[in-house]
Amino acid sequence: MNTAIKIKNNIYWIGVNDRRTHIFENYWPLPKGVAYNSYVITDEKVVVIDTVERSRMDDYIESLQAVLQGRQVDYLIVNHMEPDHTGSIKALKCYYPNLTVVGNSKTFPMLQNYYGIDSNLLEVKEGDSLSIGQYTLNFYMAPMLHWPETMVTYLPEEKVLFSGDIFGAFGTLDGGIFDDQVDLDYLEEEISRYYSNIVGKYGVPAQTALKKLGALPIGTICATHGPIWRSHIGDIIARYDRWSKYETEAGIVIAFSSMYGHTEQMAEMIGRFLMEAGIKKIRIHDTSKTHPSYIINDIFRYRGVIFGSCAYNGGIFPTMETLLNELENMGVKNHYFAYFGNKTWGGGAMPRLKAFAEKIKWEVVADPDEATGAIKATDMEQCRLIAQAMSERLKG
Ligand code: FEO
Repeated sequence: MNTAIKIKNNIYWIGVNDRRTHIFENYWPLPKGVAYNSYVITDEKVVVIDTVERSRMDDYIESLQAVLQGRQVDYLIVNHMEPDHTGSIKALKCYYPNLTVVGNSKTFPMLQNYYGIDSNLLEVKEGDSLSIGQYTLNFYMAPMLHWPETMVTYLPEEKVLFSGDIFGAFGTLDGGIFDDQVDLDYLEEEISRYYSNIVGKYGVPAQTALKKLGALPIGTICATHGPIWRSHIGDIIARYDRWSKYETEAGIVIAFSSMYGHTEQMAEMIGRFLMEAGIKKIRIHDTSKTHPSYIINDIFRYRGVIFGSCAYNGGIFPTMETLLNELENMGVKNHYFAYFGNKTWGGGAMPRLKAFAEKIKWEVVADPDEATGAIKATDMEQCRLIAQAMSERLKG
């Protein structure tokens, strides 16, 4: 089905919505689906910017052909090599065998590796321009946002930035494609979850890119996922700036792993003590039920983090281990931390939580508590001290 929409003048959206895929990158949940955005510019030259995930190739080609009305594609700009945007390249080349792929020195080895494509290539570098008729395309490198070959393409005559994954969001585009056409309140968590889950590891490269792109007059941001930004550009850029500086609000995320309910009771207790200390923004997650995607997203939002885990086979509970691993890998910065645990005999969770705190370099605000089985008065008192120390640190 042709779903192409004109963005302005000779620039069209030819993306697709994916409501079938449950998990993105085979890991991150997609409760509201995801959009793969691709764009085509019909100037003297026809330029396609990024493609879509290969399972949606049929609809994609139909939209492209409807816009082109028999014209050929001259250039395909590959801003980012991840297969949700390059999965249709081989098929696209079957339809348009003479197209030239535009990328940078890091793009082409990946292109050859993934798809065996090593001819009709145009390599661009930082600041290079490509004239396509009345329009010019300028290229800027944005390495490690979130792959090494990532770049963005800027069209100065229309002030349009084709930003790849940067400023992207989970969630399909229901009805409209622009930020002023879709329900941003509905997409709120999907916007921040996309940043925290996909881009979150790369705060420093994000800051570098924001400084570079901040010099450009930008009227429209065409990302490869989520809404096209034209009415809330300042807002999405400000969010990226905050997130990539690891700026957080005064709130607390408690995540626990509990087999028989004792560790959960400690989490509940700490939550109650925090409330009594005047903290309102408290999120308590069970790691066995809630995917790390959502816990990580809350951690990007709130400054205080308290983890608790039971012991399991002499170590920490597996779902807590997954969460710790993910956070260590991302290197999330600037949080206050406390932890607690539970054992029946030998333990195992506490050394892992201690090692986590040391590795991630979060400030530990209170002595931990490890209960043995059912919660005793001494555990309750230590949980109260943990909550008190955390609330004081947050308020301080
Ligand atoms: Fe949307 Fe990094 O691919």
